[in-house]
Amino acid sequence: MRFLIMLALLCLATPVWATDIPDADSPGGALYADHCAACHFLPHPKRLDWGQWRHMLRVMKMRMDEQGMTMDKTEWRQISAYLKAHAR
Ligand code: HEC
Repeated sequence: MRFLIMLALLCLATPVWATDIPDADSPGGALYADHCAACHFLPHPKRLDWGQWRHMLRVMKMRMDEQGMTMDKTEWRQISAYLKAHAR
């Protein structure tokens, strides 16, 4: 519970982070920046390799479902392709 409160405070306090991500202007990059910085600051794509991202995207899908946030299949596909292209 305390973790969730901390997280909520962090979300409120988080400014628009100017994380330098590659291809930020591409459709995939823009979707990534839009959807993946809603609860924490935007992780750099080089943070993980593609195998780890694949796992992480499944976990994030669960986190978003818990919050009633949705993304359609096309958006997930574009974000996946973006991370695959720029993973470590
Ligand atoms: C609904 C809120 C929410 C959204 C939206 C969200 N995340 Fe997360 N994310 C979390 C939480 C909560 C954690 C902490 C670990 C956990 O509980 O699973 C986390 C942890 C992470 C981590 C691991 C922490 C680290 O610094 O290494 C990564 C990577 C990550 N998220 C990537 C993403 C990506 C990519 C997206 C977009 C598809 C995304 N997140 C969207 C809530 C969210």
